[in-house]
Amino acid sequence: MAFEIISKDVVGRVGRLHTPHGTVETPALMPVINPNIDFIPPSQMRKYGAEILITNSYIIYRTKKLRERALKKGLHGLLEVDMPIMTDSGSFQLMVYGEVEIGNREIVSFQNEIGSDIVTPLDIPTPPDASHETALNDLIETLKREREAEEIHKSYSKRNLLSIPIQGSTHLDLRMKSAEEAGRIDGDVFAIGAVVPLLDTYRFSDVARIVLTVKSVISPAKPVHLFGAGHPMIFALYAAMGIDLFDSAAYALFAKDDRYLTPNGTLKLEEIQYFPCSCPVCLDYTPEEMRRLPKNERARLIAEHNLYASFEEIRRVKQAIKSNELFELVEMRIRAHPYLIQAWREIGNYMELLEKHDPSAKKIFFYLGKESLYRPAVRRHQQKVLNVGLDRDEITISSDPGVKADFYLRPVFGVVPAELMESYPAGHAEIYHDVEDEAYITAIEGLKAFLEKHRDRKIKLILDEKWRRFMDEVQD
Ligand code: GUN
Ligand code: ZN
Repeated sequence: MAFEIISKDVVGRVGRLHTPHGTVETPALMPVINPNIDFIPPSQMRKYGAEILITNSYIIYRTKKLRERALKKGLHGLLEVDMPIMTDSGSFQLMVYGEVEIGNREIVSFQNEIGSDIVTPLDIPTPPDASHETALNDLIETLKREREAEEIHKSYSKRNLLSIPIQGSTHLDLRMKSAEEAGRIDGDVFAIGAVVPLLDTYRFSDVARIVLTVKSVISPAKPVHLFGAGHPMIFALYAAMGIDLFDSAAYALFAKDDRYLTPNGTLKLEEIQYFPCSCPVCLDYTPEEMRRLPKNERARLIAEHNLYASFEEIRRVKQAIKSNELFELVEMRIRAHPYLIQAWREIGNYMELLEKHDPSAKKIFFYLGKESLYRPAVRRHQQKVLNVGLDRDEITISSDPGVKADFYLRPVFGVVPAELMESYPAGHAEIYHDVEDEAYITAIEGLKAFLEKHRDRKIKLILDEKWRRFMDEVQD
């Protein structure tokens, strides 16, 4: 198998992707290398944290000098690196310029001949909001090309991997169909395509729905790439939804426009008085010094910072998965932009997916706002309590932890057996005083289910005024 899963949290995972040029730990960020432009040399990418690169085979193919070099020395010889390199096919140029001067067969063969580690067919990225008919026709053609790529790829019988793009525009039924069909093709990576125009316009919810729909259909054993997602602000969010591979042209494109990436959004160099970063670049220069540099030098330095900041966030996401604190990280990150909050709330419509993937054993539960109520730990706790056997006919439930009782009430969780008051999740939860009403309402729903289940017992309820008020407000 090309992919192994090492740790899991939320719908995300830390994994290992095996390629002919070595193993890559995921979630991974692939910096985009433009083979025509000498910006940050590929050989330096490891320094920033890159374990795998992505470049465009179409640009290499179309540029005589590059093509000849690549055919002679291989892709890795051309870029002078020995780390894994994924190649794209020219599909993005197809989306931007409407046509490309190459066929699927040619470009898939070419990628194999130059020794790409991950080969991409010439899929058709249908733009957002295209008509259903257009998106369907494009998808049918994309699937045909992917099956053709599968055949060509097999004939080379190397160990390199095949990426299968998933299209369908903003039509979720088509994204679902695309994912189902992709599952029947012998590919190694699924790549969710044509989301760049959505990300560029901050339509993070649309992307979230697409990602969650695709993840609901495809095998969890396969790695998933979100094509063109390279801003550190969105890594935690989409990694938590199950994305394993990101690629960044953003580090360079933003830098050329004096834009500085942070996990909380983009800053314009002209607005920065103090760099909120301790990478080598930000320690060496003040923002004012940087502004005075010639354009090219400045762009290069900002790009370096952008890479450092992006890989720092990737490591933070991986650590959060390992320590089962990815919910906490996402709930912090989404505060950077209202549309990120909105996007994360989509997870509420995919509770089955979340329930299936999120591990149940964790150490802490930091309640960080209403979004914490989506965590499966809440539902699982309430379900578990419903199954607790009662050994007496008369029991006491109290909202006051100072009173002796069989069960206690906590916002978020509802009924907590006395003996579980020191256990995860309810007993390991930190919840602030005066928490939102929704946290009480969720708890009351749990309490009402409990009372309904044990309606033949005598249950003494000791409720303070606040609990009593919510008890009356929540409809049975
Ligand atoms: N780069 C950004 N989006 C896409 C896409 O949909 N397909 C391919 N092949 N490359 C991309
Ligand atoms: Zn920096």
